[in-house]
Amino acid sequence: MSEPFKLVNLGSADGLVCEDGYCAVPGASEAPGTEAGAAASTDAAGFSAGNGADAGAAAQRPILPGSTIGILGGGQLGRMLAHSGSRLGYRFVTLDPTPDSPCGQTAQQIVAGYGDREAARELARRSDVITYEFENVDSDVAAMLERESYVPQGSALLHTTQHRLREKRAIEAAGARVAPYAEVTSLETLRGAAARLGLPAVLKTATGGYDGKGQWVLRSEDELAPAWAEAEKAGTELVLEKFIAFEKEISVIAARRPSGEIKTFPPAENVHVNNILHLSIVPARIPDDVRAEAERLAVSIAKTLGAVGLIAVEMFAGADGTLYVNELAPRPHNSGHYTMEACRTSQFEQHVRAICDLPLGDTSLLSPVVMANILGEHVPPLLEWMKEKDPEAERLGVEPKVHLYGKAEAKNKRKMGHVNVLADDTESALAWITQSNIWRV
Ligand SMILES: Nc1ncnc2c1ncn2[C@@H]1O[C@H](COP(=O)(O)OP(=O)(O)O)[C@@H](O)[C@H]1O
Ligand SMILES: [Mg+2]
Repeated sequence: MSEPFKLVNLGSADGLVCEDGYCAVPGASEAPGTEAGAAASTDAAGFSAGNGADAGAAAQRPILPGSTIGILGGGQLGRMLAHSGSRLGYRFVTLDPTPDSPCGQTAQQIVAGYGDREAARELARRSDVITYEFENVDSDVAAMLERESYVPQGSALLHTTQHRLREKRAIEAAGARVAPYAEVTSLETLRGAAARLGLPAVLKTATGGYDGKGQWVLRSEDELAPAWAEAEKAGTELVLEKFIAFEKEISVIAARRPSGEIKTFPPAENVHVNNILHLSIVPARIPDDVRAEAERLAVSIAKTLGAVGLIAVEMFAGADGTLYVNELAPRPHNSGHYTMEACRTSQFEQHVRAICDLPLGDTSLLSPVVMANILGEHVPPLLEWMKEKDPEAERLGVEPKVHLYGKAEAKNKRKMGHVNVLADDTESALAWITQSNIWRV
């Protein structure tokens, strides 16, 4: 364990350099377990109640700068957490199987698999507090770390969000609406569910899906048997959801401290291409009452589930303003990258503040912004564009801020970075993105 305020060598010897442009300043709470009724049970898998922030943690709070934050996972979310947190004076160590991971380039790294218990114990030895940057953390390892070290987020919410059925039940328990759904265990139950919910509908694996993987859109009865044959191979439980003809997809990121303070970031309007997030537009082009309701739902979910740290709430907004919660992520979220330059406090700093139990930062929007993801195929045109001044950006009065994650291989569809396009209005930012060569491919 490092000593708080022993700030010698920070930002140099251990490579915790905060690069300009990556760091930004971000900025929720009731005592855990108070209204965490829905999450406060111990289930058969042995996951402990609430968020763990109570368990042996009171004496450890707050975690002050100079302390070391251990991150399970070394991807871009960990990298951006380390950039933001190192500016506040924290040290970082990550556990990831890929050497020189995006986070490992900016923090110490333990190269090992996520299921490696000894490596996880080593992470705990080197850390004062542990967080995770992806959901599919081995649940046994997460529970072990929670018992043996300090994981303020706990493993209960992770357990809930790792499984779509558990997640939907928890969302409903928080008083929010989800798309009508049914558990599917056989072709017969799929047929029955499709008859009840109606088509089109979306068949999803309950675990392990991301960026649209593990999903089948079913438009006619003929598609049920082939989809079942395919989905069955995934070897996991399945859920059928009614297809929501939404007007907009939006997301709200909330942060909650162990002591209960909660703050939300402004809702983002999200545009997906091939099920991968392409754009986040902020302010979202939704009526004020829908915006307020989206924020209210995110707060209610964060409280009811006893979240600590960030929780991203993805929602569908119907044409009549009805909100359906689609899914949750108990970590920084791609649709929150816009906060890095566009908010007073970034989602990454806010997560660090929340898990360390520091006062949350102001989440006000400083500028309209559109975040556009850079996938592997966008890297060559982006690098080409970076060489020269861009008269069109000047003409439109936009300021595109580039973030790249240090991934070696620019594979097709792989998330390599993003650009936050700051502008006087989101139309100008969208106009710049539309005329740019970067996203033509
Ligand atoms: N029930 C649904 N109705 C309409 N569109 C859906 C539905 N479920 C998913 N989608 C679309 O597919 C995208 C990915 O689905 P999601 O459940 O968020 O999975 P993941 O992000 O884990 O791949 C959503 O962002 C949305 O565009
Ligand atoms: Mg999603």
